[in-house]
Amino acid sequence: MSQPRKLHIKSYGCQMNVYDAQRMVDTLAAEGFIETPAADDADLVILNTCHIREKASEKVYSELGRLRVLRDEAARGGRTMNIVVAGCVAQAEGQEIIRRAPVVDVVVGPQSYHHLPQLLAQAKSHGRALETEFPVEDKFAFLPPPSRQAIRSRGISSFVTVQEGCDKFCSFCVVPYTRGAEVSRPVAKIADDVRRLADNGVHEITLIGQNVNAYHGEGPDGRPWPLGRLLRHLARIPGIVRLRYSTSHPRDVDDSLIEAHRDLPELMPFVHVPVQSGSDRILGAMNRKHSADDYRRVIERLRKARQDIAFSSDFIVGFPGETGEDFCATLALVEQIGYAGAYSFKYSPRPGPPAAEMREMVSAEEMDERLVRLQELIDSQQSAFNRAMIGTTVDVLFERPARNPGQIVGRTAWLQPAHVFASPDIIGQVWPVTIERLERYSLLGTLAPGPVQAQPFSTTSLPTTVGA
Ligand code: SAH
Ligand code: SF4
Ligand code: F3S
Repeated sequence: MSQPRKLHIKSYGCQMNVYDAQRMVDTLAAEGFIETPAADDADLVILNTCHIREKASEKVYSELGRLRVLRDEAARGGRTMNIVVAGCVAQAEGQEIIRRAPVVDVVVGPQSYHHLPQLLAQAKSHGRALETEFPVEDKFAFLPPPSRQAIRSRGISSFVTVQEGCDKFCSFCVVPYTRGAEVSRPVAKIADDVRRLADNGVHEITLIGQNVNAYHGEGPDGRPWPLGRLLRHLARIPGIVRLRYSTSHPRDVDDSLIEAHRDLPELMPFVHVPVQSGSDRILGAMNRKHSADDYRRVIERLRKARQDIAFSSDFIVGFPGETGEDFCATLALVEQIGYAGAYSFKYSPRPGPPAAEMREMVSAEEMDERLVRLQELIDSQQSAFNRAMIGTTVDVLFERPARNPGQIVGRTAWLQPAHVFASPDIIGQVWPVTIERLERYSLLGTLAPGPVQAQPFSTTSLPTTVGA
């Protein structure tokens, strides 16, 4: 039998890339590759890239510089190392990558991973291969499902892609250009994937998509189903105790989703709904097609549907033309909503989306200052949210042994890591935990004695205005 070849894959960017990386591993497993944690001894290295901000994108070229050294070393030892650039930079820059980095054998866009084996064969015979056209077929229909062994090695929580691409065209964002138009997978296919994962020990599913609540896949009745209906359907699959979804757009929070939050205990009360800015003028320039008040109303409706719901968001500071007043509107919105966490970024001009043409750039110092102020506010809210857990009893889904001997670690409904001293036998189960302490972002607690029902934690007890 021939030796298995070793594959190393490094992913940048969003959850979609993490999921895609696993599917590439599954595809190449069928070709005799096994995954290796280091690039040094790999026969094939895949960089699964992200184009969202300039920094993310430029990382690819420095990484390729390092890989060139490894590849030369391998060659001196009589070994061939192939290098693939996949993901959103591959899609956006295609030929340019081959020009700038001759070390690359294959450039493959995110919609064409099912062609990887052919592209590798083509590179072997012709020296190089490139595929960045959007194929007409859906790659998911062709990618092999993960093996039982692969699922088990990935733990009790898994992503499942339900939709890909985006039709929103926010003026700063490359995603509609790198991932293409929005496509939803049929309900039956998603349910098959989830059943397979559940049969192999997965208990938590996060449905992912660039714009996940724009989901409108074909239901068993032949009609398009909204995300809320899909969630309702999946919640019935035995073994699935927790459902999440990410990333949603405020404009696509519809009645079905609100009702799913109201009715499904499996649907976790922690939602990532990016707003980007609190200024209507900037939201307009960003082409978000909603106002700050529209967003407030969405949050209110979700809060009414489920009292323990908490939110996270993404923010961009220093969008072209953002004045001090616009930025203050963002701070005011954050203060009013009270987040359990959020990501914030400095605006980064990208080739393709129209904001790149806007000339009223905010100065680098101003951007830095705004980012610090926003992050301080968000941090203080996150700490307040975490501190409010102390003394309460909350459900924790245990995931793995912790680094500290004797401890195991799991996550609360709000994705906070929670550590307890307990037997690893309960990994994969949900147990009520009384939270005693907070160590940085981790909760420490003890298993609540007996089969107690975890008390619902109410976010309404949190201050809505937390120190600026
Ligand atoms: N689909 C999601 C987000 C996708 S990108 C949504 O609609 O919100 C993840 C985050 O990166 C965005 O929410 C935005 O905050 C940030 N981002 C996207 N393009 C950016 C840019 N050009 N500069 C800075 N941040 C950006
Ligand atoms: Fe990008 Fe906007 Fe689409 Fe999100 S909704 S992926 S920010 S274009
Ligand atoms: Fe990055 Fe592409 Fe995701 S640009 S954020 S990897 S969709």
